[in-house]
Amino acid sequence: MCSRIKRGIFLTLEGIDGSGKSSALKALYTELSLQYNVIATREPGATPIGKHIRDVVQSSSEPLCPRAEFLLFAADRAQHFHEIVLPYLADSYIVISDRMADSSLAYQGYGRGLDKEFIKTVNEWVTRGVKPDCTFYLRTDQTVARERVNRRLEIKTTIEKEHNDFFQRVTDGFEAIFNGRSDVIVIDASQNQKKVHEDIIQAVYTFLSFTKDAV
Ligand code: TYD
Repeated sequence: MCSRIKRGIFLTLEGIDGSGKSSALKALYTELSLQYNVIATREPGATPIGKHIRDVVQSSSEPLCPRAEFLLFAADRAQHFHEIVLPYLADSYIVISDRMADSSLAYQGYGRGLDKEFIKTVNEWVTRGVKPDCTFYLRTDQTVARERVNRRLEIKTTIEKEHNDFFQRVTDGFEAIFNGRSDVIVIDASQNQKKVHEDIIQAVYTFLSFTKDAV
């Protein structure tokens, strides 16, 4: 079972592009904000500085080398923690982030092949060692997720344009990172959207029922 933190509660959603995190986050926010102080946030791009970083990592016309890409995500994370995550946790909010440190491990570590221990060290440093109380992993088949991304009307980002073998490495990475972790709840995200939302809301309530005196 997931662990507690002293003041607020920090939840993260993780999964590959097209796993449905963003809509799950909206559904969770709508539900939880009826009874709790909750903030929905994201990486990259939750802060004004982060929005500039997001533009560079998502749509730069110049190719980014993997190390620079990781350091930009890490810089976004540092700013995100400084401006949003830590202050809201200190104020006893439930903070829910669409992606966080595990995305760097999966995309830059497993996907790009960077040193995973180094990524973990930098993640620890930029987050001041604050870890999610619980992570919801929206697990979905790579093919299903790719089809969802392809159906979207928006222009594909730099990472979304990567080949299937990159996304397979990222998917395998998430599986390896989350395997056997007691602070991770797996949601079957290949189901229809309504069912995914019901499942994640139910899972969050179950988690909160064990931690209700924390918020
Ligand atoms: P996301 O916000 O889920 O994409 P969008 O809202 O555009 O659908 O994530 C942005 C992209 O950044 C996504 O392809 C995953 C990638 N990413 C990393 O590669 N490393 C990281 O550390 C983070 C946070 C995201």
